[in-house]
Amino acid sequence: MADALPTCLLDGAFIPTNEARISPLDRGFLFGDGVYEVIPCYAGKPFRLEAHFSRLQSSLDALGIRNPCSPSRWAELVHGLVAANEGGDMGIYIEITRGTGRGRDFMPPPGLNPTVFGFCWRLSKTPFEQIERGIAAVTLEDIRWLRCDIKSIALLGPVMLKMEAHHRGADEAILIRDGRLAEGSSCAVFTVKDGDIATPPASRERLPSITRRVVEDAIVALGLQLQVREIYRDEMAAADEIWIASSTREVVPVTALDNHTVGGGKAGSVWHRVFDEFQSLKRLETDSA
Ligand code: PDD
Repeated sequence: MADALPTCLLDGAFIPTNEARISPLDRGFLFGDGVYEVIPCYAGKPFRLEAHFSRLQSSLDALGIRNPCSPSRWAELVHGLVAANEGGDMGIYIEITRGTGRGRDFMPPPGLNPTVFGFCWRLSKTPFEQIERGIAAVTLEDIRWLRCDIKSIALLGPVMLKMEAHHRGADEAILIRDGRLAEGSSCAVFTVKDGDIATPPASRERLPSITRRVVEDAIVALGLQLQVREIYRDEMAAADEIWIASSTREVVPVTALDNHTVGGGKAGSVWHRVFDEFQSLKRLETDSA
């Protein structure tokens, strides 16, 4: 990931990133008591912003944290952060914690003011040949908690899983719970077998991915169908294609799983079509070149 850009957002003010300070008594620091969003931005225009705000609201509601800003104020802050860092293609991170208490009470004291922090980084343009080569993934048991639908800042599970994947020479961990595909450690997952595209349904075991919806829109635009159903461990090993999807990586083929090639080690034909359509949707919605 690229370095943070020079200007960040802290509690409504745009300030130099390297001067931003929060209290160590912030509940985000002490308990991981907060939520976040990662929003892609193309040619200075945040992509699918409303969907990200809506998921942010769901995460805040699940934790009973007051949303400190109205939707229009959020839009103002996100656009302000993008402009302060000169636009272009970037990833935008927004974090809201429950706020800073006077000590370390598990039970949150009433009347806290949520802390809002945002920063962004450049999204570099990966050459197509590199995207097409795909990534290596390994399947690992899902060791995370049972509310993976909340975009919580407490990310120790995914950090441990990503480290284990890297230790095994892979880029991503594809997580299995009770013999079924949950999701990636930081992405949604799709499989293709004999032309049938599948992805698991929404549940508390997985984050409602916004990029998954973009991929779904691309599939529909191509006149193809998406099966939303549980996917079992054995199906992963037998898949013709596996893709991962996230806000920062878009849709990427997995060309090796558990040290075996997927689809002969090459990106599949369905992925190629979906990737092209994904780029068209991006251009259409953001006017990016
Ligand atoms: N992660 N599942 C998990 C566990 C994730 O962390 C992510 C994204 C996704 C994909 O969601 P979306 O399409 O809305 O980005 C699925 C982000 C990018 C992150 O934490 O950096």
